[in-house]
Amino acid sequence: MNIIETVNLTKTYQRFSKEAGLRGSVKSLFKREFVTKTAVAAFDLTVQEGEFIGLIGPNGAGKTTLVKMLTGIIAPSSGDISVVGFYPNKLENAFKKQYAVVMGQKSQLFFELSAADTFLLFKELYHIPEEEYHMNLDYFVELFGVADILNVQVRTLSLGERMKMELIVALLHNPKILFLDEPTIGLDAIAQKQIRKFLKEVNETKGTTIILTSHYMEDIKSLCKRCIVINGGVKLYDGDTDTLFQKYQTHKKITISLEHDETCQLNHDFTILEQVPYKVSLLIKKEQSQELLKDLLSSYELKDISIEEEDIANVVERIYNDKSGVTA
Ligand SMILES: Nc1ncnc2c1ncn2[C@@H]1O[C@H](COP(=O)(O)OP(=O)(O)OP(=O)(O)O)[C@@H](O)[C@H]1O
Ligand SMILES: [Mg+2]
Repeated sequence: MNIIETVNLTKTYQRFSKEAGLRGSVKSLFKREFVTKTAVAAFDLTVQEGEFIGLIGPNGAGKTTLVKMLTGIIAPSSGDISVVGFYPNKLENAFKKQYAVVMGQKSQLFFELSAADTFLLFKELYHIPEEEYHMNLDYFVELFGVADILNVQVRTLSLGERMKMELIVALLHNPKILFLDEPTIGLDAIAQKQIRKFLKEVNETKGTTIILTSHYMEDIKSLCKRCIVINGGVKLYDGDTDTLFQKYQTHKKITISLEHDETCQLNHDFTILEQVPYKVSLLIKKEQSQELLKDLLSSYELKDISIEEEDIANVVERIYNDKSGVTA
């Protein structure tokens, strides 16, 4: 059974626009100008129960808008949508029990209360049976190792600790689908890793369907077998995650800090991304990166060096330029 199904799903926003300054403000009192923005365009999506799907795309691509439509926060402008058999924006109570949503930028917790208090509140809100509540709570608290901070005010928790509590509160009622909109944003590498481990476990042991948006490609690569790339509201890729990255994430970003202010002149085929005194960032094909590193080390006095995966924006551009972009 498809747990999520959308056909031609579209969302357009009307945005009020006015010229800058006092003159513009006065003018807009008499004549309001609106611009229409299509945030999600004719989006077809089918998700099977138990899948762990990554949703990626650059800023403004339409990811959050899609998640908001799937969770009923906003109504689509047109198209069909069915989530666990419901039309989300009807916001029926029976639907609300089927899913949970965690947004990195928003909180479901009450900052003046402790996490334990919020959990109790959610138990009542979702009518979670006593036994199920305690079983879930014990399981998640153990999995995250947060027993010692359950009773402190949420306001005093670190970002990483708070995000763990956000995930626990979202999962207490055993939702069938978990929507995560950038849950690891701003977290350090250790907290990111812990959250990944937790999500993997929840997906595998509880069979929860998870839709994850993230700008950290490591989240997507390590968790999602299938991923969807969206750009300008349009689906560019829907298929195997490994295939996507092998095919389109072809370069590495190398940043070096130099002891002396000198220009890098090497016989390699790379693109300079940024060059300031004592520092250069460049993009090079993965298979040539080892050679380049060797030459850099032998030709220059280096203070520091970092090697990163290239940005999602480059991957998107490559898919976009590839005529055979949409693959199954
Ligand atoms: N309430 C709104 N009114 C008007 N336009 C909006 C509204 N919300 C979003 N948009 C526009 O719709 C587009 C898609 O926004 P959305 O928030 O879905 O992108 P996103 O992929 O989540 O981006 P990010 O990675 O920055 O979170 C953007 O151009 C944004 O400016
Ligand atoms: Mg967003």
